Amino acid sequence: MNCRLLVALCGVWIAGCALAAPHEHAHDAPKIDKPIVFLDKSPRIVAFQLARLPDAQLLLVDREPTHLKYIPVYEAILLRPAIPANLKQDAVAALAKINKSDAATEILGALKRLPEDQSALAVGLAKLLIAQPAAALKKHHAALQEIAGGDSPAAVRQAAFAALAATQPADALWNFAEEKSGTAYLLIALPLVPDAAVRAAFYAKTAPLLQASTDAPLRRAAVAAVARMPGHEAAAFAALAALVAADADVADCARALAAIPKAQWPAAALQKLATDLLTRAKAIPQSQRTENDYLDIAQLGLDLAAKLPRETGAPIRQAFAALGVNVLRLRTLHEQMLFDRALLVVEAGRPVEVFFENTDVMPHNWVLAAIGAADAVGAAAEKMPPKPDALGRVHVPDMPQVLQASRMLNPGEHARIAFTAPKVPGDYPFLCTFPGHWQRMRGVLKVVGDMETYLAQNPTAPVEIKITEWKSADFAAALTATTAAGDPARGKAVFAKAACASCHQLGAEGVAFGPNLSDSIKRLKGDGLAMLTEILEPSRTIDEKYRNYNFDLTDDETVNGLILKEDAAGVTLRTGPGEAQVQTLPKKMIKTRRPSALSLMPAGLLNTLAREEVLDLLAYLRTANAPARP
Ligand code: HEC
Repeated sequence: MNCRLLVALCGVWIAGCALAAPHEHAHDAPKIDKPIVFLDKSPRIVAFQLARLPDAQLLLVDREPTHLKYIPVYEAILLRPAIPANLKQDAVAALAKINKSDAATEILGALKRLPEDQSALAVGLAKLLIAQPAAALKKHHAALQEIAGGDSPAAVRQAAFAALAATQPADALWNFAEEKSGTAYLLIALPLVPDAAVRAAFYAKTAPLLQASTDAPLRRAAVAAVARMPGHEAAAFAALAALVAADADVADCARALAAIPKAQWPAAALQKLATDLLTRAKAIPQSQRTENDYLDIAQLGLDLAAKLPRETGAPIRQAFAALGVNVLRLRTLHEQMLFDRALLVVEAGRPVEVFFENTDVMPHNWVLAAIGAADAVGAAAEKMPPKPDALGRVHVPDMPQVLQASRMLNPGEHARIAFTAPKVPGDYPFLCTFPGHWQRMRGVLKVVGDMETYLAQNPTAPVEIKITEWKSADFAAALTATTAAGDPARGKAVFAKAACASCHQLGAEGVAFGPNLSDSIKRLKGDGLAMLTEILEPSRTIDEKYRNYNFDLTDDETVNGLILKEDAAGVTLRTGPGEAQVQTLPKKMIKTRRPSALSLMPAGLLNTLAREEVLDLLAYLRTANAPARP
């Protein structure tokens, strides 16, 4: 999805435009029409008609798992990159029902129909395939071998290898891969295999490839695979460290070593590896010291040094610091509305650079605020229309509490923010000031007087954010039990922490961007499981009133949001929950518009919560006795 923000559209927004909740405007909003498709024509003609529909319209075409004529609709859904995985899973189940086959057969069929150069789509289908029970995959052993050993595109062969790992012992699969010149495909596929024991069974075969003398592509595939084989951490660590010492694939090794849990790092090997990394880092020319490979090498070197006793660790840290750049890496977490680190530590008054990469599907920025000023900055940003300031930044308030700020980054973009750390030690909050994000998406830049003293007093590694990919099924038993689980009072706090009210009203409180949750609670009649599914899979069902639209504009920008109103002059959109995010696009600026299949609600909002917290939240939603709306 290429959702460029409205940054280039100065002058089109309407300041102070009277704002109403979308549902009150709904009668003005154009509905996406259900397309007219003749499903009783020949399959080729049906496929042709379907190919012309945007994703959201395709999803409106009638489909029932009851009749052959719906097959092309389900097949088309499987081959759309942007349609979410859960809807593809539904399509697979429906095809299996109509064809009286099974899910694996249908996914294999889709993989075979996959056009070349669709590797992201192949990875998505691979994930659906390997989620099938091992017994079901075993039945397709021969077909999987045919694909894995054949001349399909690389991503498709890898998908087949990932599934084969569940159907036969490691040694047999390894031999098969060697016979078909597919060892590298097998190794690249291994990290996808969900069962850690299955991945680990390949260790004995993989380890011998970790030699400087191995062919480079094969060796790199082995390096990435070996870091994800539990039970062999110490041996993998030693082998990767030896490659670093031999100057082979040092950056790949650094990334693989960083993927091994820190608790498993063998204490005796840390100092030598840190010193070797320092040697490699010094050999990288100054001009390349802000690039990915250098940063990954330096980050690992610093993390290793932080685990060493002060006498040995401090000189290594200082040597890395002397190489010139003190770069802090920060990314966003996919569909979670979070930064990947909650804590960054710097020394007071020293030059630093934040290398911020937006790896999410929605826009984010990075804003550093004065101590205690996160709420003030977030609230001020929310009141701003998306009009760029002199530096081209949107939603960055002009106030002294804003110390540093990046541009708003679209998915896939990155920014470097170089500055001198504040002179006064303390906890400086950082946040994304996109309206609706700032309550949740924040962290702390800890400014310390002396790094060595700080590390000596705080020997544990920086806080790692714990993510659990919750599924409704994880709660099915607890939510259908007669004794209601969860505590509503604690759930109210979870509701606040998860920032639900920044997009939803409950009764009369909160922001009316998404549906009023009092209405949802009434509609779902206390069915906790249905409520949970709405929260965990926002894109499964989207009320047309809240449909997200992408607009391509004549100046090559793209904007997306909810349509509030449309008339001869233009389309009035709401791009975010903030009061100021309402703007009118003049008709003549709009090249095309496409309804999106992706909800405006992020899917991973509950993934940082503990199980009890999820149950508490649902208990709160179930019992929230909201006052009637005016
Ligand atoms: C960034 C804005 C945003 C945030 C934050 C957000 N939502 Fe949503 N939510 C929406 C939008 C927009 C919809 C409507 C589109 C859809 O159904 O996906 C929605 C839909 C829903 C629905 C379905 C409503 C119905 O009646 O169909 C529920 C339930 C829900 N959200 C609960 C929550 C909860 C609980 C939280 C906090 C954990 C939350 N939302 C956070 C924007 C948001």
